Amino acid sequence: MNPGSPVHPIPDMFSPVSAPAAAIRELWWLLGGISGGILLVVGGVLWWCATRFRARPGEDREPPQVYGSDRIEFAWTIVPILIVFVLFLATARTIYDVQAMVPPADALEVTLVGHQWWWEIRYPGLGVVTANELHVPASVPGARRPTFLTLESADVIHSFWVPQLAGKTDVVPARSNRTWIEPTEVGTFLGQCAEFCGTQHANMLLRVVVESPADFARWVESQRRPAVDDARVADGRAIFESTACVSCHAVAGTDATGTFGPDLTHLAARETIASGAADNTPANLRAWIADPRAIKPGALMPAMKLPADQLDRLAAYLATLR
Ligand code: CUA
Repeated sequence: MNPGSPVHPIPDMFSPVSAPAAAIRELWWLLGGISGGILLVVGGVLWWCATRFRARPGEDREPPQVYGSDRIEFAWTIVPILIVFVLFLATARTIYDVQAMVPPADALEVTLVGHQWWWEIRYPGLGVVTANELHVPASVPGARRPTFLTLESADVIHSFWVPQLAGKTDVVPARSNRTWIEPTEVGTFLGQCAEFCGTQHANMLLRVVVESPADFARWVESQRRPAVDDARVADGRAIFESTACVSCHAVAGTDATGTFGPDLTHLAARETIASGAADNTPANLRAWIADPRAIKPGALMPAMKLPADQLDRLAAYLATLR
């Protein structure tokens, strides 16, 4: 990521920077306004009746009991039906507007695969595979560059949600859902799996890094390169290639071709590890390999049970994978 590019630490649906999220905020204000108005009217009438007709000292008779008014019953049936109809139409219009968007010719296509508990990110047209940190270009006036997402799941139902960029879309096994984002501001926006998917659901975080088109092109360029092969950490690489790491993880240019866990080819270029559960520092990386469940209880990666010196060398190797 570029130094100086802001990280927005709060996933805030009231500060949209992308068309679908802006449409959802507008809809929220309309529905919130109507609902708030109903609350005020009903609450006000209730309060007025309760004070105006309360029992007063010395009164011990029942008030007159009045039954049946066709007009009033008609009114309080029809008015709510009309209100619900308006709420329904406004919602349906927003859903339609968001879903009707057709990808323009230069739209970016990304496939996002939900796993327990991390996000696999593939750019089929660019030959890039990464995890948990989705990089996309910003749309600038005159050069719209929306990103269309194909959402798939490797196991259970997850849900894609980056409040500043788009509404929630479920990520369902054996089916492909589509959504899109079109950020107009650079920066990092935080997202979160929004469908309970097991013990580490709350730690299934997603970062969306929005970059200027030039920065995005540079990022793609760097991600397409094979993994760094630094002779100073050759012993760490040998440990990596001779342990079970390779059955789950891939590092382009090595024997590691596993696909069960995140691709590690450019691991060190990411801000976080463990799907956003920890910052990507050498100490955290070492602690993660030593015992992932100390950081993410229930994580599916087993503790590698390596002696301390091997752990050091392995972590040193992974830290070079920029
Ligand atoms: Cu994935 Cu909750």
